[in-house]
Amino acid sequence: MERLRGDGDAVLSLVAVEGGAVMGHVLFSRLCAPASALALAPLAVRADRRRRGIGALLVEAGLDRAKRDGWQGVVVLGDPAYYRRFGFRPESVADMDSPYAGPALMGLALAPGGLQGPRVEHAPAFASL
Ligand SMILES: CC(C)(COP(=O)(O)OP(=O)(O)OC[C@H]1O[C@@H](n2cnc3c(N)ncnc32)[C@H](O)[C@@H]1OP(=O)(O)O)[C@@H](O)C(=O)NCCC(=O)NCCS
Repeated sequence: MERLRGDGDAVLSLVAVEGGAVMGHVLFSRLCAPASALALAPLAVRADRRRRGIGALLVEAGLDRAKRDGWQGVVVLGDPAYYRRFGFRPESVADMDSPYAGPALMGLALAPGGLQGPRVEHAPAFASL
């Protein structure tokens, strides 16, 4: 996450705050390709505050903001059982090359035809994970 910020690739960072303490966080970073789309990662909610909808609020608020800011799509690498509820689908990026290709790589277009191209290429920071 620090590398993403240091490289200038972090685009949108949201926190959920309760009583002045951070309960959850989500980061969206720019993709190298498609350049009009973002990657959602990481998403984390404090262990003692999970299953209260905080993760969903963070994801939905981030997607709303990304759409308003004109981003065309979002990709996420995660558990389909969790991310399907937001509209993420493996089929949306199935035709695109990526080192993370597979059922855990999902996409969501924020505009008609918004997520297209020959490949999904994450920011360089992801390669060092
Ligand atoms: C994943 C995470 C962010 C969800 O946060 P949250 O605030 O608990 O999420 P919500 O309250 O919006 O949603 C909870 C629901 O998601 C489900 N869920 C949580 N993690 C899940 C997972 N990995 N796979 C499938 N379902 C999951 C819960 O069972 C719950 O389902 P229910 O509503 O049917 O009971 C949180 O569990 C977390 O921080 N986990 C550790 C970090 C992590 O794995 N991040 C995701 C990386 S891709």
